[in-house]
Amino acid sequence: MPQEVRGVIARAKGEPVTVETIVIPDPGPGEVVVAVQACGVCHTDLHYREGGINDDFPFLLGHEAAGIVETVGEGVTEVAPGDFVILNWRAVCGECRSCLRGRPHYCFATHNAQQKMTLLDGTELSPALGIGAFADKTLVAAGQATKVDPEARPEAAGLLGCGVMAGIGAALNTGGVTRGDSVAVFGCGGVGDAAIEGSRIAGAHTIIAVDLDDTKLEWAKGFGATHTVNAATEDPVARIKEITGGNGADVVIEAIGLPHVYKQAFEARDLAGTVVLVGVPNPEHTIELPFIEVFGRGGALKSSWYGDCLPSRDFPMLIDLYLQGRLNLDGFVSETIGLDQVEEAFHKMETGGVLRSVVVL
Ligand SMILES: NC(=O)c1ccc[n+]([C@@H]2O[C@H](COP(=O)([O-])OP(=O)(O)OC[C@H]3O[C@@H](n4cnc5c(N)ncnc54)[C@H](O)[C@@H]3O)[C@@H](O)[C@H]2O)c1
Ligand SMILES: [Zn+2]
Ligand SMILES: [Zn+2]
Repeated sequence: MPQEVRGVIARAKGEPVTVETIVIPDPGPGEVVVAVQACGVCHTDLHYREGGINDDFPFLLGHEAAGIVETVGEGVTEVAPGDFVILNWRAVCGECRSCLRGRPHYCFATHNAQQKMTLLDGTELSPALGIGAFADKTLVAAGQATKVDPEARPEAAGLLGCGVMAGIGAALNTGGVTRGDSVAVFGCGGVGDAAIEGSRIAGAHTIIAVDLDDTKLEWAKGFGATHTVNAATEDPVARIKEITGGNGADVVIEAIGLPHVYKQAFEARDLAGTVVLVGVPNPEHTIELPFIEVFGRGGALKSSWYGDCLPSRDFPMLIDLYLQGRLNLDGFVSETIGLDQVEEAFHKMETGGVLRSVVVL
């Protein structure tokens, strides 16, 4: 029997979101219905609402979630009813050219549920990142639900589903940060702070946090930044060089998505170092770099999609670290809110003051 539950809908570009009744079909082959327990508010939800992703309104927002599998469709073997899962937007296909080369973390053909969730009048919804978890329940592909230790708090665990995984993975997977490295992170929102946390776990020796906001810099210290630089009052490139003995950092992570900041990241890097871009650029922006420096500095300029994570490999491992007290996921949960407070949470995100507002159901 299809179920009627509440969901947060963006009906039109720029319009405030509304809580509406939505219809969740029974899971078909390869699909599961998940009772959502918690879902973080991510910048990407706001991008959808602003029409910045595509025009497929109405959207069912929310995609950083944890919950309990309620029912499973035919052929589902990965999870069973009652399992505690984190939702992901990288259900790998196993058959594309990347998967076949043993690189499923880059899968070029990820998939979502086949059936559509709808409004009461039958209008099909577009779930954010194929998930749509600002709702009591949601329908996803079985591969989008990753089973983890149920001891973890849902509000913290769900954050691994997007921004926190993107940041940790930018450091650990894409940047390959390791013991003794110096790391600089530009932008200390949820993603940047997760990159700092990831660098700390990896044993980085020096971790330099760069932001324009002193409160954000203070929080960054809590995640493991050893030095902070306020780019509003200091030249971040000069300061990073100074802190690293005149050389620059081994790994520089850009977690904002701005061309002039990317250029600073490029310049703040040591010879043979790595720049990782995890911030999402505006499609209209371009960058210009001195070509001889691109060659002369060597190393690597990399981009990080979803922290190059493989959910089945990374989520259970990171939840174990969290439960052992070695990964500070709780630090990202600034506040818990109800489904009807998502619009307010968008405003807080724009004015600073939170790392993550998390909807609790
Ligand atoms: N690559 C991925 O898979 C992935 C996944 C999730 C999010 N993201 C992207 O990561 C980026 C960061 O997300 P977030 O949730 O942390 O955002 P956020 O807005 O919370 O954080 C951005 C931070 O950058 C700071 N900042 C802005 N301009 C700056 C400047 N010139 N110099 C230094 N600091 C500056 C802000 O003060 C803020 O603290 C976004 O672009 C988001 O879309 C990427
Ligand atoms: Zn694939
Ligand atoms: Zn997100």
